[in-house]
Amino acid sequence: MNGPELVSVAPTCRLCAGPVREWMDLGRQPASNAFPRPDETDAERFFRLAVGICAECTMVQQLEAMPTDHMFRADYPYRSSTSDGLRRHFEAVAGWLRDTELTDRADLVVEIGCNDGAMLGVLGASGVRHLGVDPSAGAARTAVARGAEVRVGFFDEVSAAAIRAERGPAKVVFSANTISHVADIGTVFRGVDRLLTSDGIFVFEDRYVADIVEYAYFDQIYDEHFYLFSVRAVDAMVARFGFELVDVERIPIHGGSLRFTVARPGARPRRASVGRMIDEEAQTAIGEYDTYLRFARQIERVGADLVALLTDLRDAGRRVVGYGATSKSATVTNFCGIGPDLVPFICDTTPEKQGRLSPGMHIPVRPHAAFADPYPDYALLFAWNHAEEIMAKERHFVAQGGRWILYVPHVHIV
Ligand code: TYD
Repeated sequence: MNGPELVSVAPTCRLCAGPVREWMDLGRQPASNAFPRPDETDAERFFRLAVGICAECTMVQQLEAMPTDHMFRADYPYRSSTSDGLRRHFEAVAGWLRDTELTDRADLVVEIGCNDGAMLGVLGASGVRHLGVDPSAGAARTAVARGAEVRVGFFDEVSAAAIRAERGPAKVVFSANTISHVADIGTVFRGVDRLLTSDGIFVFEDRYVADIVEYAYFDQIYDEHFYLFSVRAVDAMVARFGFELVDVERIPIHGGSLRFTVARPGARPRRASVGRMIDEEAQTAIGEYDTYLRFARQIERVGADLVALLTDLRDAGRRVVGYGATSKSATVTNFCGIGPDLVPFICDTTPEKQGRLSPGMHIPVRPHAAFADPYPDYALLFAWNHAEEIMAKERHFVAQGGRWILYVPHVHIV
């Protein structure tokens, strides 16, 4: 007997309501920045980390969302300033905004997700009118100590209206590595709409999906990266919310990011870079489902190769240590099933992560000093986006015979 016909209902795009086709299921995953204490593991929350692409607007997005208030809590441990490279980058962004946009004493800049003030502290020290908005009270304390003013909470149409009432409109709204985190992204754009002057700009930086595909950076897919941005999909998205994408440029952050500049329609000239990059994306099929299916096969291969290598090394009696308890490492360890039996601990310089366990797989996180006490035979570099900085710092590890294991774009030892 046949039962009632099962109808498979395609999930709909959060932006345009088009059908979203799933191309990869990375399995049961935790919140990537929720590092439990050893007695807190029962309280961990998991979700199905699945990614798809909208057949209409081509936005790559997750099919299920980890609740925002679970990801970004007061004790959120990520700190922008833990890498010299990121610190220098944000100092440069601050200088650029100060010299090009925030030239009048009355100009106000609002940063969404200002974290520990790596960018805003520099503007605050220059006397620029500013306000950061961030739900992480711990990161905000560091930002305040750097001279930045911070409102602890989420940025949405309600908080944006309150900021405007208190301080007037903002000439610049800036955000780095935050906008793609918000599944209900309309709340952000409605907030920007309430806050921005008629000739102001909304600048946001985020990972670039074309780089993620090209270099197989599959661990950039984790709960916080709800959307993976392409220029074409962002162009359509901002238009839907009543804005215009006027500029886009590549920046060498987190393995490959874009800086998007958005303005009110007609307020700023639209630069050629936008059309040029949309054309490039069409040539490389970055908006097409088949591209992602191929990527998914590659991810499966890398995962299998990594587990095989770590298992061989363990069986041969070699010591492997993880380097950098990144958000990305949550995807790698949980997707591959890598636990303390294969990687006994991960060293990390962030005090808020030390003494805790990695999300989901519960690999202990230890201070950086544990790395050289004694050096392992191999270091699995989870913080590969800081490879140059870290490898320069750890020259002695290699000099005494240690080797790095990298897993992007494929598993290899250097
Ligand atoms: P990062 O790659 O910036 O971010 P994400 O969490 O978005 O994947 O995180 C880098 C992590 O690596 C952070 O926890 C700090 C740590 N780290 C070190 O332990 N040593 C270092 O020299 C650097 C640069 C980072």
